[in-house]
Amino acid sequence: MDLWFDTDPGFDDWMAWLLIEACPDFRLHGVSVVAGNAPLPRVLENARRIKTLHGLAAPLHAGCDRPLAQAQVTAQNVLGAHGMATTGRHLVADEAALMPQHGVQAMIDCIRAHPGQITLLAVGPLTNVATAFALAPDLPALLKDLVIMGGSTVGGNATAAAEFNIHADPEAAARVFACGRSVAMFGLNVCRQVVVDASHVARARGAGSNASLVFSDYLDGYVDIARQRGRPFQSVYDPTPVMWLARPELFELQPGRVDIELAGQHTRGMTVCDLRGPALPRANARVALKAQGEEALDWAMTLIEARLKA
Ligand code: RIB
Ligand code: CA
Repeated sequence: MDLWFDTDPGFDDWMAWLLIEACPDFRLHGVSVVAGNAPLPRVLENARRIKTLHGLAAPLHAGCDRPLAQAQVTAQNVLGAHGMATTGRHLVADEAALMPQHGVQAMIDCIRAHPGQITLLAVGPLTNVATAFALAPDLPALLKDLVIMGGSTVGGNATAAAEFNIHADPEAAARVFACGRSVAMFGLNVCRQVVVDASHVARARGAGSNASLVFSDYLDGYVDIARQRGRPFQSVYDPTPVMWLARPELFELQPGRVDIELAGQHTRGMTVCDLRGPALPRANARVALKAQGEEALDWAMTLIEARLKA
């Protein structure tokens, strides 16, 4: 399966990217970085350091540095200044090259070069994707599939109504859900069925390489976000759609209509998910509702452990 990965690393982005490169079912054509968890310079530096640490192969491109219409918001209030936290070792080396071409144009060129083949997976704010669709209106029809981590059927995490990736650029999300191509939406509701805890940190650490020690310290920092809130486990967001792409039998999705609230004083950025029968004629999404989380995560951790040992 041929992929283009759009991301705002963040640790869960890192885990998704590593899983993609660890899974033999995927061929990753390129990575575009978008401002989200932290401003673009920071998430771009995170991406270069992740690529350097694991020797990841796919070319890396800088994308959009601000939302389409609103002021920038980040998740640094939760994740820290770097957009991801560690309880030990730090990512340092950043020799990995950054391609000169803008990530949006690189995404467009790749999809046009492989008509009907590329699955576009976006796990950050949808600014790059919406910009690509505006510059190249032919793009949605050329995709094999369009998959996002974003939104929610059960309320938000950035606000009571909005999940962060949508909250960070609601206008971009509205354009993506109106692109004419069905969006496979992995929201908070299904990602909360896939959870990591200290046992997964130990599994990653057990791989015994330097990369595994660095990765597991950031995984521990990710779980620590939940521990600080009184929970021993943390939801796995961005890797969840990757697990579906490789193991669809472990998930249940339902067609429905998803609209992005843009005007609500308290609900801006909400994904209004209408899964009722009458909404079917207007369906623009496949909404992930159920996950066999333990089996999906065990599959993912086995691949990640093997990659960390390499
Ligand atoms: O709400 C979760 C999403 O926001 C994830 O993509 C995480 O990386 C952050 O971007
Ligand atoms: Ca992300």
